[in-house]
Amino acid sequence: MKIFETKLTLQDFIDECRSKNASIGFVPTMGALHEGHMSLIKKSKESGAITVCSIFVNPTQFNDPKDFEKYPKTIQEDLENLEKAGCELVFLPSVAEMYPQGMNQLPQYPLGRLEELWEGAHRPGHFQGVCVIVHRLLEAVRPDILFMGSKDFQQVAVIQHLIANYSFEPPIKLISCETIREASGLAISSRNVRLSEEQKKQALAIYQGFDIIRTALAKQAQVSIATLEKNFEQQLLDAGFDSVDYIAFADPNTLEPITDLSLTFVVLVAAFIGGVRLIDNQLFTHELFKRV
Ligand code: PAF
Repeated sequence: MKIFETKLTLQDFIDECRSKNASIGFVPTMGALHEGHMSLIKKSKESGAITVCSIFVNPTQFNDPKDFEKYPKTIQEDLENLEKAGCELVFLPSVAEMYPQGMNQLPQYPLGRLEELWEGAHRPGHFQGVCVIVHRLLEAVRPDILFMGSKDFQQVAVIQHLIANYSFEPPIKLISCETIREASGLAISSRNVRLSEEQKKQALAIYQGFDIIRTALAKQAQVSIATLEKNFEQQLLDAGFDSVDYIAFADPNTLEPITDLSLTFVVLVAAFIGGVRLIDNQLFTHELFKRV
């Protein structure tokens, strides 16, 4: 496994791979790698691509400086795991490498409603920071395929928007991969390490909330979206969550709130437990309702 700290050395090596007709698969991360990230590396490897993983804790996407400070850093362990998984290239840039002109006066990305809704509303500036860094990483790596986890549902939509609106050579195919969960149902996240065992159990209320919605829909219960949202929020608070940022029933393409439960929709959740902000989501299609 080769490790690069500068864009130039990385690009030279990638050009060499391309000259041998290799395709490039890219998994951008902020480190503290867990099974979710490793599943993306596996997917990239399975595609036959040379796999590049970047590890960079991007300061401009943290709207809360304390969250940035507390973000777990496990670089040695991350590198060992990547090596074991057969990742070929790791990009480990410094802040100066990614922000040579500093972090003020960064380009603005027109994201429209995507940054006004849900995560966008609750984390002002977050998606601008994500776009700046992902754009720069994509220009450095120039991948054929980009692998991202669908736990960050809105982030995937934002990056899809970025790819569609800026030209990349070669063109990039974005593959959104399923959320990896613990056996209990808890979505795996780098932030879970900050939860106690008790809080992890309480956090299962999110997953259970999805099940309750599924059961209500399978029974064709006459229940409104507003009631489902209110009940879900109360279940989280009863389970021990400190507060709920949002529970949203949304169109999976536009992320706009839906009014009709008979179409495919996604339920997006963000809530705090023990001072840790967890996000999760579940897609609801009619096939799912039938299986309950
Ligand atoms: O999902 C993440 O880990 C980050 O938002 C990303 C895509 C690596 C950009 O910093």
